[in-house]
Amino acid sequence: MDNHTITETSSTNPFEPLLSLRWENDRLLMLDQRLLPEEIVMLELFTAEQVFEGIQSMKVRGAPAIGISAAYGVVLGSWEYKGEDASAWMKHVLKVSAYLAQSRPTAVNLFWALDRMNQKAHQLAEQEGSTDSRNEALLAEAIAIHAEDEEVCRQIGEHALPLFKDGMGVLTHCNAGGLATAKYGTALAPMYLAHEQGIHLKVYADETRPVLQGARLTAFELQQAGIDVTLLCDNMAGMVMSKGWIQAVIVGADRVAANGDVANKIGTYSVAVLARAHGIPFYVACPLSTIDLATATGADIPIEERTADEVTVSFGKRTAPQDIKVFNPAFDVTPNEYVTAIITEKGIVYPSYSEELPKLFVD
Ligand code: MRU
Repeated sequence: MDNHTITETSSTNPFEPLLSLRWENDRLLMLDQRLLPEEIVMLELFTAEQVFEGIQSMKVRGAPAIGISAAYGVVLGSWEYKGEDASAWMKHVLKVSAYLAQSRPTAVNLFWALDRMNQKAHQLAEQEGSTDSRNEALLAEAIAIHAEDEEVCRQIGEHALPLFKDGMGVLTHCNAGGLATAKYGTALAPMYLAHEQGIHLKVYADETRPVLQGARLTAFELQQAGIDVTLLCDNMAGMVMSKGWIQAVIVGADRVAANGDVANKIGTYSVAVLARAHGIPFYVACPLSTIDLATATGADIPIEERTADEVTVSFGKRTAPQDIKVFNPAFDVTPNEYVTAIITEKGIVYPSYSEELPKLFVD
């Protein structure tokens, strides 16, 4: 696929963080997160196929950012319909949406955003108007999803902030930061807010094998913002906890089941067990769009398996024998009993999650 690229230089202003997605001049600008931290390259995407590829190859990643990208993907795909028949337009949009739904399976934000775009398409097909006006309204919906995510992340940060006191050591896994969302992130949102308010947190970022979102993205974005961050290999988390350096763990989520089981980046479960063993609270920060009441338990969450080369090739060279058997699940499930609280834009939820999570969806 021919991806046109725009190369940009890093922002040095701590109040101007790198944005993973921008909609400008009828195309989606997507930061190629595979190239971070060494290169800052914005890709120009013009088609739903390019958006699909960007999500599948993890140029964009992180549950909310995947959902936002997919919404714009629907918009780009909708432009391929050239007729004026409302119902044919809607069928075309639903087809584009079904195609994008195949890009990655675990983060429910993808399906949430596509459902919202589908609902909008249904609504528009029933109203008077031209294809141009329907396409415009569909774009407005994608822009709204994007803008709302920024607001929601900020609210998550505000709710989470009182859990963190000056001087605390906080461990996080993977990247649930600004790069994974419209802005601020979910798990990293309280760190940005703390920084704005002069509250000093000492953040420990797990490197997060095998794709290294912690090393390449979390360490990068926090360092860029001037936040005190120390990078750890994943297998060091227990040691730093045993030293008493960690007072809280906070991670994001790709899908929270109705019973509070949490699917997040592979390795999250191990961190949660370690936190429990050391008496450290384990928090999950996520928007309501990540909570999937239609999925009963973690066992029902589809877990993506990715290719073996993510594990067998490191530092640009092969680091495992040829033909070795590899198991490479991208996510694991942390059972609800390890989750101290789930922080959303509507506030902090404590167990019992089966009872409390549905209340979040009541106005
Ligand atoms: O495979 P990735 O990089 O998309 O996985 C991302 C994570 O697991 C994040 O923790 C999660 O999506 C939350 S992002 C706010």
